[in-house]
This record gives sequence, structure tokens and C-alpha cells, in this order.
Amino acid sequence: MTFRGIAVAAFAVALAGCGGEAPGAEAGLTNPVIEERHDNFEGIGDAFKAIRGQLEQESPDFSVIQANAEDINQRAGNIEQHFVEETAREAGYDTEALAAIWQKPEEFASATQKLIDTSAALVEAAGGGDPAAVGAAVKEMGGSCKNCHDQFRYDDEA
Ligand code: HEC
Repeated sequence: MTFRGIAVAAFAVALAGCGGEAPGAEAGLTNPVIEERHDNFEGIGDAFKAIRGQLEQESPDFSVIQANAEDINQRAGNIEQHFVEETAREAGYDTEALAAIWQKPEEFASATQKLIDTSAALVEAAGGGDPAAVGAAVKEMGGSCKNCHDQFRYDDEA
């Protein structure tokens, strides 16, 4: 085998090691809606990080918390439209969205509504400026992320 041949073979082995463990991961189908929902969830994740960052400060800026809660609330309203077309991990798409989303649409809608409600409650609490109430509202909202992820998002650490 030439040097080049060895290098290519090693690369193939490295690639095989990356994808194999997940259901449907080999196919890696793509769909523009997956990109949109990734971007939306990234935005939700960044806003949540900003909120938690404020809570670690000695005197949190509640207006920053409020603005980020508003952002999450708005993005939560986008979630539904990103899951109309069935594009589940089990069907070979490059996504962490589980088929359960389309098998249990009512539960998924209610998990989405929970984030809409808890983020709205956080907007309100942040407006009030009571640190204990804000802390409790952030915890509630965080619980709504976990509630949905536990049921509907593929967990590669499980
Ligand atoms: C109604 C269900 C639901 C709720 C509520 C929810 N998520 Fe997710 N989240 C998902 C799903 C499904 C994915 C996987 C999307 C994909 O891979 O296509 C995801 C992915 C993500 C990602 C990875 C970004 C990506 O798509 O690559 C982050 C970060 C994230 N969520 C953060 C959050 C945070 C923070 C909250 C709460 C403030 C939250 N999510 C609430 C369902 C939800």
C-alpha cells in the first residue's frame, strides 16, 4: 500500500468511528427546516445563558434578564412551525429531534406551551425586579427545557 492509500484508509476508519452509534446517523439526510430550528434553539440557548450569567452577578441587571426572556418567549412561538414536516433522527435526518415529536403531537405542543408560559412569567417577574421571584421563574423555565428535552430530544450521553 502506498503512503497515500494508508492515509485514506485511516481517514475512513476515523469517520466510521464518529457516526455509527446513533439510529439513522449514517444516512445524514438534511432539510432546511432542521437548520432553522437549530438556529432558533441556539438563540434560546444563548438567551438562557445570558439570563443565568446575570443571576451570577452580585446585582443582576433585570432589564437584561427581561429582554432575554422576551427573546425566548418569541422564539418559543416559532417552535411549532419547525416541526410540521416529519424530519426525525430515526428517519435518517441529521437532527436530535426524535420521532416521538410526530407520534405524540399533543404532548409536544403542551411542552412547547410550557416554555411559552414560563418565559412570559419570567418577563413579568423580571419587570417586578424581586430577585427571589426572578430566581424561581428562571428555575421554572429551565424545568420546561428539560421536560421537553427528556421526552423529545436525542441524548447522545444516555
Ligand atoms: C418543546 C420542546 C423543547 C423545548 C421547550 C426546549 N427545547 Fe431545546 N431542543 C428541542 C429539540 C427537539 C431539539 C433538537 C433540535 C434538532 O436537532 O433538530 C433541541 C435543541 C436544543 C439545543 C441545541 C441546538 C441545536 O438545535 O442544535 C439547545 C442549545 C436547546 N435546545 C436549548 C433549549 C433551552 C435553553 C430551552 C429552554 C429555555 C429549550 N431548549 C427548550 C426541544 C425543546
